[in-house]
Amino acid sequence: MSYFAEPYKIKVVEPIKMTTREERIQAIKEAGYNTFLLKSEDVYIDLLTDSGTSAMSDNQWAGMMLGDEAYAGSRNFYNLEKAIQDVYGFPYVVPTHQGRGAENIISSLLIKPGDYVPGNMYFTTTRAHQERNGGTFVDIIIDEAHDPAVEIPFKGNVDLNKLEDLINRVGADKIPYISVAVTVNLAGGQPVSMANLRDVHTLAKKHGIRVIFDATRAVENAFFIKEREEGYADKSIKEIVREIFSYADGCTMSAKKDNLVNIGGFLALREEEIYEEATEMLVLFEGFPTYGGLAGRDMEALARGTYEMIDEAYIAHRVGQVRYLGDQLINAGIPVMRPIGGHAVFLDARAFLSHLDQEEFPAQSLAAALYVDSGVRGMERGIVSAGRDIKTGENHKPRLELVRLTIPRRVYTDRHFDVVAESVINLYEKREEIPGLKFVYEPKTLRFFTGSFEPTKKSPIFE
Ligand SMILES: Cc1ncc(COP(=O)(O)O)c(C=O)c1O
Repeated sequence: MSYFAEPYKIKVVEPIKMTTREERIQAIKEAGYNTFLLKSEDVYIDLLTDSGTSAMSDNQWAGMMLGDEAYAGSRNFYNLEKAIQDVYGFPYVVPTHQGRGAENIISSLLIKPGDYVPGNMYFTTTRAHQERNGGTFVDIIIDEAHDPAVEIPFKGNVDLNKLEDLINRVGADKIPYISVAVTVNLAGGQPVSMANLRDVHTLAKKHGIRVIFDATRAVENAFFIKEREEGYADKSIKEIVREIFSYADGCTMSAKKDNLVNIGGFLALREEEIYEEATEMLVLFEGFPTYGGLAGRDMEALARGTYEMIDEAYIAHRVGQVRYLGDQLINAGIPVMRPIGGHAVFLDARAFLSHLDQEEFPAQSLAAALYVDSGVRGMERGIVSAGRDIKTGENHKPRLELVRLTIPRRVYTDRHFDVVAESVINLYEKREEIPGLKFVYEPKTLRFFTGSFEPTKKSPIFE
């Protein structure tokens, strides 16, 4: 499958502002060297996240006009329910305002204090909800996932030995569910193979443990399976997605990614009893069961996006565009997470800024420097995102210290990515000048969102 031009044409455009270097130096200073705190209008090419940043289609916008905003029984809920049942194969659907709404419900329902929740690498909000309910997250991803240079096709796989060791050590009754992300965001958008999902499911069932998937980027995962795993080349993306979810008891979903909407999420379940408990929590924290956290029009856009995301041309182009940027950087010798994943290109800040200690926040500093250089906004995914150990108070020190350049869906053209590549290459040439950062304000939870920093020394990069 080669990379072809966009399988869509542009009907509406949104102008973006060009800024001067002086303006950007001022803006990053005011933002405390945290790209989350920049004003979007000061950003030229926004690669902060692929979450909620997709361009919706004309068909989705048309659906927005068909929003049925009834408090109960909105027709858009039934369209959404049908789409999720059809595409993912779960009978019970709980609409939430976004992914963490679903994480809140499932973690509160299933986790008891003292439990362990194994997962293929942590995700920030997912782990925060598990810990909030008294669970301890245990990383069971294969070791290779923690090494940015190792090039293997399914770097998001679960290490079955690690999983089995945990079950033997703490006992199955202390494991409310196994949490499997397809693909793995913080490992670089790396996929999990179908064989591995099947094996995890078999092992879990042997011990009577539930398996809950984080479905956020499962269509991208399905594309990699089609491309890389024997026996799947001739299957449709829809068939592969259905098989993926046949190995789960439920999933949490941030629909702001795969499903091409700006807001939305859901919890989908196979067990009626858990569904009933989930709807009880839903009415407390989100809303009535037929809208949860969403307006009728948003549910309609989500129902339609759920079909658009499994279009073969769409998903091939989507992953191809991420690779288009990644390959330019690889060809220029820039250290990036290999292989290029499904939603983002991750700069290996540890290798890029090898003169800095991890506690000088190299990825945070590199993201700030990239913004000053060209107005491109990326995000830190390293020691700042990893936070502190809730028991010892020490910084978690993840092996991966990355800057994520996340590609919004159907938003930018390849020319934008040429500009991004040029800027990263330019910075690499003067990397020694990029200074470390220190905290000025450190929030207690999810500190990467609102923490602020200052450079540890004067540098021409920020002046
Ligand atoms: C893998 C993964 N899980 C969960 C979430 C949380 O979803 P939301 O931001 O919609 O609350 C995200 C969002 O970035 C994610 O990437």
